[in-house]
Amino acid sequence: QAAANEKLVLALPKGRILDELAPMLDHAGIEPEAAFSDDDSRQLRFTTNHPELDIIRVRSFDVATFVAFGAAHLGVAGNDVIMEFDYPELYAPVDLGIGHCRMAVAQPRELVKDDDPARWSHVRIATKYPNITKQHFAARGVQAETVKLNGAMELAPSLGLCRRIVDLVSSGKTLKANDLVEVEHIANVTSRLIANRAALKTRPHALGDWIERFREAADAA
Ligand code: PRP
Repeated sequence: QAAANEKLVLALPKGRILDELAPMLDHAGIEPEAAFSDDDSRQLRFTTNHPELDIIRVRSFDVATFVAFGAAHLGVAGNDVIMEFDYPELYAPVDLGIGHCRMAVAQPRELVKDDDPARWSHVRIATKYPNITKQHFAARGVQAETVKLNGAMELAPSLGLCRRIVDLVSSGKTLKANDLVEVEHIANVTSRLIANRAALKTRPHALGDWIERFREAADAA
């Protein structure tokens, strides 16, 4: 049995990505203990069929942080989260091809008339992604003032917090239900396997094996 401090830790996000990830874990030969699939369980760390590999379940934004600080060695994170934090300690070797969505600027439908995004000089935006938003607008000389929210951004325009938002769009239902339309595409988003660079140097074989298994699982999907 591997000692706790020798174990490899794989950080996985809570939420809808897990459903798409399950067949990939299966293909990579990872079987988490039963509590992992029990929605009522408050457990956060789980053993697997591999004595040297544990899984932790954290918020999608926190996966990148756990891995960047070396608290977890591997993780699954969207490139939205990877871009927002831009941690130099992260290496993202495999696009898993799951969690497809896009990051976009949206605003109320009635604002779109007579509004050419190319003429904006200053925008105020509610978002979970202040860094990506500022960079996106700065690249074309627009100053973006951001208000950081952690969810329900779509409420901000109708309540007068900000006229525009930057958020993830998948089916588009959330925007539609809140009378918002996409006006600019920022990036396409999928989930990546991420690894801590220092851990890759100290344990190249162990981590390399898992990276290879995930690459095969992604190729097979
Ligand atoms: C995401 C995103 C949008 C919604 C878009 O939130 O922030 O609100 O999904 O999906 P749609 O285009 O299919 O409607 P999510 O439900 O993941 O919850 P979160 O706010 O906790 O991130």
